[in-house]
Amino acid sequence: MPTLELAQVTKHYHLRSGFRQAKLVAVDAASFELSSNQTIALVGQSGSGKSTIAKLILQLERPSSGSISLDGRDIRHWPIRQYRGDVQMVFQDPFASLNPYHTVAHHLDRPLRLHFPELTATRRRQEVLGLLERVRLTPAADFVDRHPHELSGGQRQRVAIARALAPKPRILIADEPVSMLDVSIRLGVLNLLGRLQREESLGVLYITHDLATARHFSDQIMVMHQGRMVERGQADEVILNPRADYTKQLAAAAPNPERRLAQLRRRG
Ligand SMILES: Nc1ncnc2c1ncn2[C@@H]1O[C@H](COP(=O)(O)OP(=O)(O)OP(=O)(O)O)[C@@H](O)[C@H]1O
Ligand SMILES: [Mg+2]
Repeated sequence: MPTLELAQVTKHYHLRSGFRQAKLVAVDAASFELSSNQTIALVGQSGSGKSTIAKLILQLERPSSGSISLDGRDIRHWPIRQYRGDVQMVFQDPFASLNPYHTVAHHLDRPLRLHFPELTATRRRQEVLGLLERVRLTPAADFVDRHPHELSGGQRQRVAIARALAPKPRILIADEPVSMLDVSIRLGVLNLLGRLQREESLGVLYITHDLATARHFSDQIMVMHQGRMVERGQADEVILNPRADYTKQLAAAAPNPERRLAQLRRRG
């Protein structure tokens, strides 16, 4: 059974400008499954509906129609705390996602207190240190009492990832997790996500504009265009053999270092 399943999910927004009302279809009858131990990349241009999919899965928004289920049970029928423990997220902006007034320890302790109320303070402290080690913020003791402004963007994103792992989720939604980080550290954070995915058998939805990392870090790629899923397949297949016209355009527009080198060589 797929862990997470979207069936014909549609999301409309009603836009009002003056007296006029317009309906915007952000997501149009999207269906897909995400199993644990699998990474699916969701790609598409700006405004295609990718973050709306994330918000619907995280129950920050409700579908206008269609259904989303976890283990075959409609997500609206899951106790919300249990659902939030199973389905976690990492957002794009590591500066906005951490509270500047709280320490790293506070950020990681909170989900532990909420999801594992039986743990003592001493055990939670050990867990916090263990989480920091898992995201390679070591020695953990050097990071645990810092505030967000005492961390780099990449280190903040690692704290956000550690926080997402704290409740021991099965599904991780990562909405452009590295697009605001310096190019030089993006791969390190993506490699970390890839390693954690394998170690914890997570199901990861990796939302990105970047076809190259989508191919490298995902088993499958789904392509979204104007709210619709226009293509889905094995990552290599989708990149090397795109079927939908839109995917061909995306692939042709993506920077391709090998093709660029070949062009330069031809020019002599
Ligand atoms: N709360 C909202 N109210 C009205 N319209 C919205 C709302 N949220 C999103 N939209 C619209 O829905 C469409 C899809 O937005 P979404 O954020 O899902 O795109 P995206 O694929 O994540 O884009 P990007 O790559 O720029 O992040 C856009 O046209 C957007 O303006
Ligand atoms: Mg988005």
